[in-house]
Amino acid sequence: MPLDLEAFPSDFTWGTATSAYQIEGAVTEDGRAPSIWDTFSRVPGAIDNGDHGDTACDHYHRWPEDIALMKSFGTDAYRLSVAWPRVVPGGDGPVNAAGLDFYDRLVDGLLDAGITPSVTLYHWDLPQALQDRVQDSHGGWTERATAEHLAVYASVVAERLGDRVTQWATLNEPLCSGWIGHLEGRMAPGLTDITAAVRASYHLLLGHGLATQAIRAAAPGARIGLVTNHSTVAAASTRPEDVAAARRADGHTNRWWLDPVHGRGFPADMRELYGVELPERPGDLDTMAAPLDWHGLNYYFPVTVADDPTGPVPYTREVRLADVPRTGMDWQIDADGLESFLLRLTEDYGVRKLYVTENGSAFPDTVGPGGEVHDPDRTRYLEQHIAACARAVRKGAPLAGYYAWSLLDNFEWAYGYDKRFGLVHVDYATQRRTVKTSGRRYADIVRAHRTATGS
Ligand code: FCB
Repeated sequence: MPLDLEAFPSDFTWGTATSAYQIEGAVTEDGRAPSIWDTFSRVPGAIDNGDHGDTACDHYHRWPEDIALMKSFGTDAYRLSVAWPRVVPGGDGPVNAAGLDFYDRLVDGLLDAGITPSVTLYHWDLPQALQDRVQDSHGGWTERATAEHLAVYASVVAERLGDRVTQWATLNEPLCSGWIGHLEGRMAPGLTDITAAVRASYHLLLGHGLATQAIRAAAPGARIGLVTNHSTVAAASTRPEDVAAARRADGHTNRWWLDPVHGRGFPADMRELYGVELPERPGDLDTMAAPLDWHGLNYYFPVTVADDPTGPVPYTREVRLADVPRTGMDWQIDADGLESFLLRLTEDYGVRKLYVTENGSAFPDTVGPGGEVHDPDRTRYLEQHIAACARAVRKGAPLAGYYAWSLLDNFEWAYGYDKRFGLVHVDYATQRRTVKTSGRRYADIVRAHRTATGS
């Protein structure tokens, strides 16, 4: 499909994204300690096929090859995450030099290849030692101390890499850590407790604020953002009950995470609905709302909800629309949702610099007789969503870049290795990488944008 690439500024960033636990493997090497995902993936039934990240894409050893792949795409940037349990294996306390050295080499390798690293400090792999440290609540993010430890770990990483890395994100998708990990139990640490979940959400955002301060102190030139995931929310009908349900779902999925970082505090309607006292201390809200240089949006799908008084918090039920296109995750495909969320961040929250930090799709790929992977569905998804970005830019969204999720097929959390999001296919038995048709299309788009804007 033809794309309006001239809509994007000439210095627009094209990138790919991954995260540490999903690709690195080498979970016991060079002093890395277990994270909550190593533990969770051993819980019987937690992960499809009993998969885990022990080897994953073996990126810990194959990173030069992976950088070469990025280079072949011609992308400007790469969003990676640093594994806290490699750098500070106990969560707090001694720094593991060998863990830091790995990221040092990786960053140098990227820069040598002309690729700008964008570093996320926390992509869900909390050191297990912190989960085990139960003080006031359930350990991990339910404890205030974890937010403080995040900031110390952030300063360690920023001190080491801050001379070469300028682009920093504190957290990836606190919604998933908070709600899916502590309320729905489908992600590590696997709790199903609203009090734990609300406390975790609070401490995640506090940790974000404290880490922001820590990075600024350690690396004065840092450009810092927060990465959150969102869905547009529609009501299943015009019934007032469903309209109210959509408002609650929007509060749960969107406002709860955005309002505090934009200085509005936690939404009163949701506080009342959760009925959990926030572990608030004076000054916390200001810390959470520390000014940021950019905001990262991860967008995958929209949701439609109906009222369900007996359903899970926030007492809504997701309605599965018939006859709409879906990915292999069964997620509805709706690129307009990306456009409208970019505009909401611009107009409602006043964000002045935006990135799409993740967007992509899983489909069951087949490897052709010649080893090729032809993935027209993923290619179309990519094109549709880049087109949506272009429309948002034309309407005023200050979008500075787009990162495709993901560079590689990888460990898709509770879904294991069956769900493939890569622009590059990974044969896990041989670790052979094969660029998919979507990867080639992405490289074409990057090239065409440069030509169109003379950059
Ligand atoms: C996001 C995660 C990312 C990946 C994609 C498919 O929620 O941030 O790690 O799993 O979904």
